[in-house]
Amino acid sequence: MTSQLVLPESGVRIAFVGKGGSTKTTTLAHCLKRWADQGHPTAGLDTDEPGEDEDGSLATWAELSPIGGATVMPHRDPMSLPNMAVACTPAHGVLGIDTDAWKARIGGAHMAALAVSHLAVLMIQPTGMELQRAASVRSGLQTMTSMGMTPPPLLVILTRTNASAASPKETATTLRDAGYNVLDVMIPNSDARHGYGQAFGKPLDVPEGEPMALAADLVLAEAVRGS
Ligand SMILES: Nc1ncnc2c1ncn2[C@@H]1O[C@H](COP(=O)(O)OP(=O)(O)OP(=O)(O)O)[C@@H](O)[C@H]1O
Ligand SMILES: [Mg+2]
Repeated sequence: MTSQLVLPESGVRIAFVGKGGSTKTTTLAHCLKRWADQGHPTAGLDTDEPGEDEDGSLATWAELSPIGGATVMPHRDPMSLPNMAVACTPAHGVLGIDTDAWKARIGGAHMAALAVSHLAVLMIQPTGMELQRAASVRSGLQTMTSMGMTPPPLLVILTRTNASAASPKETATTLRDAGYNVLDVMIPNSDARHGYGQAFGKPLDVPEGEPMALAADLVLAEAVRGS
């Protein structure tokens, strides 16, 4: 089904950030598939350096199985990342930028990605200590402001949630009380054979109405608002 959302001619860029293993790549891959399914020109930029003995990167995923109609490119050099990101944003479309484990380091890939993004999506699992990580990302964005840059708005998505546990709702409330914009849709923990946790490198299906589809639609609408 085609989306009614109109994207600006120069497109929008959305950077996914979060700690190591916080489901950035998995969530972004599903979002790319959804955005492409919706008829938006869609591309992905993979800025995550693969580890020596493990590679769960977005670019490898796309090599194993194309992510809808999205073109995915690897790019490891922070210095040229901003220009590269702008250059590979499809006209009237969306570029999703995958990043490695969050580090608030000036000159690093995270700051470079955020500097050219219209929205920063922070993936958080609703376990203790995560407020601190959100604070680190928020202070990274504040540092950008103090350096004369315009940081993107920050949107928090709670992920690997358990519907029957109280902690996701409590974490959302704590984050909202601290001034964070938290997406109403949460991404459930799903370890089933065809679940999100087993999706790496496989052809994706993002059915209408399921949390990934709802989240992808809301994220893109938020990025368009921030553009
Ligand atoms: N919703 C989910 N439910 C259950 N497991 C998930 C879910 N999303 C991702 N996973 C699993 O969690 C692990 C981490 O996911 P993923 O690689 O997407 O995180 P990441 O933030 O990109 O990690 P890294 O920082 O290493 O790049 C993977 O094993 C993945 O299959
Ligand atoms: Mg990853």
